[in-house]
Amino acid sequence: MKTIFKRLIFSLIIAIAIAYNTPVLAADLAEGAKIFKVECAGCHPNGGNIIRRGKNLKLRALHRNKVDSIASISALVANGKNNMSAYGDRLSATEIDNVSAYVLKMAENNWR
Ligand code: HEC
Repeated sequence: MKTIFKRLIFSLIIAIAIAYNTPVLAADLAEGAKIFKVECAGCHPNGGNIIRRGKNLKLRALHRNKVDSIASISALVANGKNNMSAYGDRLSATEIDNVSAYVLKMAENNWR
């Protein structure tokens, strides 16, 4: 009886873990690409930055400026920074994660 209960709790925890992790694990790059086109490409065409050239989205700049993970990019996008406005009110957390995953992926591919 006790082991059955333990197993039940264990499966429940796994199920919850899977349910909550899904959006992170399955970052939707196609969705991210669409959001990027609409919201970001105006200032960041081809991963550049028309306002502050050094703050572009190429891998070297992302490393230098320590925004080189999905989490750190998402935080910057949600909160904004200097001349870049915050997207926390306009995009959902999932949308921000998707566009951030897209940015990182494109940076890794040198925006090709
Ligand atoms: C109005 C123009 C504008 C738009 C639109 C814009 N950005 Fe930015 N972005 C900037 C500027 C300016 C900076 C530099 C901020 C600073 O002073 O550090 C920046 C910085 C960044 C950085 C950090 C780059 C680095 O090398 O430090 C990332 C990542 C980024 N933007 C992603 C995005 C994403 C994703 C979107 C769309 C959701 C977006 N930006 C929309 C202007 C913009």
